[in-house]
Amino acid sequence: MINLAPVITIDGLCGSGKSGLCQALSRHLNWFTLESGMMYRILACLFLKKNIPISEKFLTSVLNDLDHHFIYKNGFICNIINKNFSKKYIMSKKVTNTASKLATFVYVRNYLFKKQKLFRQLPGLVANGRDMGTVVFPDAIIKFFLEATLENRVSRRLEDFKNQGYNFEFHILLDEMKKRDERDQNRQHSPLKMADNAIILDSNNITFLEVVQIAIKYINQHDYFKD
Ligand code: DC
Repeated sequence: MINLAPVITIDGLCGSGKSGLCQALSRHLNWFTLESGMMYRILACLFLKKNIPISEKFLTSVLNDLDHHFIYKNGFICNIINKNFSKKYIMSKKVTNTASKLATFVYVRNYLFKKQKLFRQLPGLVANGRDMGTVVFPDAIIKFFLEATLENRVSRRLEDFKNQGYNFEFHILLDEMKKRDERDQNRQHSPLKMADNAIILDSNNITFLEVVQIAIKYINQHDYFKD
């Protein structure tokens, strides 16, 4: 029998804190990290760089340019990084909206699905996205689903942007995130859905650190981590 590496998945809507939790857990466990949203974002950067319309016709050539690899940072293994784009640009509104549109193409999803599977390596993987627990790693040992109201998620994103030196109006960002939520939840292929056996982490009234602590508690209680 093939001994597959264990996977912990974290899914949820934009701005729900998936990325931070994913990094904290992979650091805690010393496991690999997959930030699947990064793949869609880097693909979006490549489309924007080439200045070509987002259509199926151009997908093959752009997908071939997708540079992905593991990197070692601060002693732990982390995600794909494309050297050519800054984190600030990757997280910009333009790239974010383009990524969300690209994520509706089944061709893109199938292509990235295969790449995402490659991140499953021993000692284990913490993967975050929209369909990690439902489609990509349905046999994950623990599936977290992060929840927060749209208003709270907008406030957090505004804070992130502020720290980067950008000021956006609340209602404008709210409108954009609402549209993204709708696209992520209602697209035909692999829409955001909570896995049947997911553990809901409601982050509305607790701090990020508390979310991490709760998640670690669940992890410690799991049979896989008991000796
Ligand atoms: O998690 P994120 O905000 O970095 O994701 C950017 C976009 O990529 C998001 O709007 C939807 C898409 N995405 C997806 O469809 N499936 C995933 N597993 C991860 C991201």
